[in-house]
Amino acid sequence: MEPAAALHLSRPASLLLLLLLLSLCALVSAQVTVVGPTDPILAMVGENTTLRCCLSPEENAEDMEVRWFQSQFSPAVFVYKGGRERKEEQKEEYRGRTTFVSKDSRGSVALIIHNVTAEDNGIYQCYFQEGRSCNEAILHLVVAELLEAEVY
Ligand SMILES: *[C@@H]1O[C@H](CO)[C@@H](O)[C@H](O)[C@H]1NC(C)=O
Ligand SMILES: *[C@@H]1O[C@H](CO)[C@@H](O)[C@H](O)[C@H]1NC(C)=O
Repeated sequence: MEPAAALHLSRPASLLLLLLLLSLCALVSAQVTVVGPTDPILAMVGENTTLRCCLSPEENAEDMEVRWFQSQFSPAVFVYKGGRERKEEQKEEYRGRTTFVSKDSRGSVALIIHNVTAEDNGIYQCYFQEGRSCNEAILHLVVAELLEAEVY
């Protein structure tokens, strides 16, 4: 059986940048870690998808910066800082397409991306910062696009 979906894989360049950022953050990370899904998140073009992450152990994140980004730290996919969304730090292509879902008193947050596109495919970091401490989790979003030719 032919697979009905084509998967877009991430580019090595963003991985490299990711590792650089990771090591930066590890220097100051405390005992709290950010936990995301271990498996890739699968979504179809046009669907909504949810990128969840949380602090472990639970910790109040109300005063923290929470940010989802891909290869570029800023503008990002979504930024929550000082208790509010920072639309001015959001990439054009995500404006009006994101919903922040927060139980931040328990350090649990999620970002819904609406109407997923093939360009959304790739690696995301879910980043928490408080003062000089930061920590993040890596999420893989795999966007599948139905190829009409392969459906029938
Ligand atoms: C996706 O999100 C939009 C905007 O909130 C909503 O109207 C729509 O029903 C959602 N679609 C699904 C399949 O949940
Ligand atoms: C989803 O994105 C496509 C391509 O950008 C656009 O044509 C379509 O109108 C969008 N659908 C919704 C429900 O926003």
